[in-house]
Amino acid sequence: MDKRPIGVFDSGLGGLTAVRQILKRLPNENVVYFGDTGRVPYGTRGEAVIEKYAKEDCDFLLQHDVKFVIAACGTVSSVAPHILASLPVPAIGVVEPSAKAAANATENGKIGILGTSATINSGSFVKALKAVRPQTEFYSQPCPLFIPLVENGWIHDNDPITTLTVERYLKPFKEAGVDTIILGCTHFPLLSSFISRYMGNDVTLIDAGEEAAKACEEQLKALSLENTDGSGQCQYFVSDHPKDFAQIAEIFLGKPVQEQVKIVDLNTL
Ligand code: DGL
Repeated sequence: MDKRPIGVFDSGLGGLTAVRQILKRLPNENVVYFGDTGRVPYGTRGEAVIEKYAKEDCDFLLQHDVKFVIAACGTVSSVAPHILASLPVPAIGVVEPSAKAAANATENGKIGILGTSATINSGSFVKALKAVRPQTEFYSQPCPLFIPLVENGWIHDNDPITTLTVERYLKPFKEAGVDTIILGCTHFPLLSSFISRYMGNDVTLIDAGEEAAKACEEQLKALSLENTDGSGQCQYFVSDHPKDFAQIAEIFLGKPVQEQVKIVDLNTL
């Protein structure tokens, strides 16, 4: 039994797709979320910068006495796993849990991987998939344009720009006949309906945030770190634009953010 919160961070809003799953699966757990909205996106940056940001994000969460850290960001999970491994509390990213889920889900052994440019260039998902299912054909596609589409809320109905962008990025997957796609960026579950419409409903989509939340649940149990009688308090922190965050967060969380979103200056930590 451990009442300390779970710390979750992302470059911005995408990590809330993981928080949504934590609130659903672990309703007693308290959560501290940090979205680095002042420095988003991470996915177009170089390794050294992503490592520095990841370290500062983790330091911020550790100051809140978190018992467990989730890097709910495909980019950090891919480029800076060593930062997570060096923390004084258990920490996970989204790569290994998603790779395991994809390896279990595929029937024809053809898996597509979507992510930011930094994620795809790192080869992280391919490496993790090879470790759990060596006989797999991989298809990787960086999708940098998905992030602004999601952050601008162009995710409704059949938005024509989003539909065309999805078709352009996913065409090679369709031609290759992949039966499973890893949404290797935590923004991408919001495009699931577009992706399924183009690829067909029989193609399995792996939600990286959801898989990380499941892995967190398993590890908290295994390490006896669960909070079984907490009330599930959430605290939200951002590095810029708290009002915008509160407004857009609802589409990621599936419910309005009632709590006050606080702004932090990581330089003063
Ligand atoms: N949420 C980030 C990820 O999962 C994507 C946004 C970004 O480029 O910062 O990689």
